[in-house]
Amino acid sequence: MPDRTDILVVGSGGREHALAWKLRQSPRCGRLLCAPGNAGIEGVADCVPVDAGDVAGLVALVERENVGLVVVGPEVPLAAGLVDELESRGRRAFGPRRDGALLEGSKAFAKELMREAGVPTADFAIVSRADEAHARIDAVGAPIVVKADGLAAGKGVYVCATAEEAHAAVDEIMGRRIFGEAGGRVVLEALLPGEEASFLALADGETVVPLASSQDHKRIGDGDTGPNTGGMGAYSPAPVVTPELEREVVETVLRPVVRTLRARGIDFRGVLYAGLMIDRGRPSVLEFNVRFGDPECQPLMMRMKSDLVDVLDAVIDGRLATTPIEWDPRAAACVVVAAPGYPGPIEKGAPIEGLDEAARDADAVVFHAGTARDASGRVVTAGGRVLGVTALGETIPGAVARAYATASRIRFPGMQMRRDIGHRAGAGRGSGA
Ligand code: AMP
Ligand code: GLY
Repeated sequence: MPDRTDILVVGSGGREHALAWKLRQSPRCGRLLCAPGNAGIEGVADCVPVDAGDVAGLVALVERENVGLVVVGPEVPLAAGLVDELESRGRRAFGPRRDGALLEGSKAFAKELMREAGVPTADFAIVSRADEAHARIDAVGAPIVVKADGLAAGKGVYVCATAEEAHAAVDEIMGRRIFGEAGGRVVLEALLPGEEASFLALADGETVVPLASSQDHKRIGDGDTGPNTGGMGAYSPAPVVTPELEREVVETVLRPVVRTLRARGIDFRGVLYAGLMIDRGRPSVLEFNVRFGDPECQPLMMRMKSDLVDVLDAVIDGRLATTPIEWDPRAAACVVVAAPGYPGPIEKGAPIEGLDEAARDADAVVFHAGTARDASGRVVTAGGRVLGVTALGETIPGAVARAYATASRIRFPGMQMRRDIGHRAGAGRGSGA
């Protein structure tokens, strides 16, 4: 029997449910805790009511419970230096330190690093004064993309078709400071044409190993219409990521980034997630994230055959080069079920029916995101993205059909889901239920 480690997962979304579900299957996992978790994570971990942004509270929890490994889901605690705090107390944690998390936490930092590393990305300017931003928009015209520098919960990017929209975006970000400090600087960049893809890899400071390919669906509406969301579904593998593209992304994007970070004294260990635009087969980087994508993580965890604890240990200890990661050859797809109003203001507290029936298919898992228990113990909606119904199948269309069949058993008032998850990979059209 291998030594068991007590593990804490930090976060409360579908990504963290998928990570906890996968960790629970490891013979090396002892007690599994999650802070703060949700009504689904409760089924696999002991949930502790400490917020994912509460670094001091999390450190105290780790010390109190003598946790051996902390797996950080979201970007906010990474950017706040949770991993640094844990390591300074001799604790093991998966995720980059504060300096590496800047790759996601500051778009200006990421763009400058890409320029230094020679990574393909849209032409850009970084400005720290609103009048400069307005002048630049007048000079270069539209279309143009305006981005708040700092973390803005995925909402800080404005793709502007006209100069008026771009000026208005600068007013919101820098004038009204709707994202607070994140709007101290903006990145103005050229609009790139093409098809978007997510590219997730693990880095151990030196070696970069791609995860299985995946793609998410950012827009709320079928046919990729309407406002951007955190992601309404995802699938793996992603046919857009051919073996040649994978090689090119590793060689021209990920390795140069890790090397350039190292030259700056930044030892990047964790998930390196490049948001790409693919135009005529060539990738450019839209952004970096320093954590698993949500919902991309859900299909990835269903396909990962290796022990996740072994994989995370290899990242932390710099042993990725000698640690093969095995994947289920089947496809997986995740359909996100969202609350009415999402991605705008949402209603919470609606009881969710059908979760027991939805649990019957052994090849499908209903990962919880925004769920909670009410006073009488019922599972109710508690966030914008409520569930991520994820299934395996022989093909992407097969996995998608199974995810929709499972999702059709679930009901709550006003529930929204896209009906065309996987359409770019040849799947789509749900059960219609
Ligand atoms: P980001 O958070 O930087 O990935 O931006 C959010 C979304 O805005 C992306 O998923 C793209 O759909 C879009 N976007 C960002 N930058 C660009 C760009 N330079 N050209 C075209 N679309 C972009
Ligand atoms: N699914 C996109 C993200 O996690 O940022």
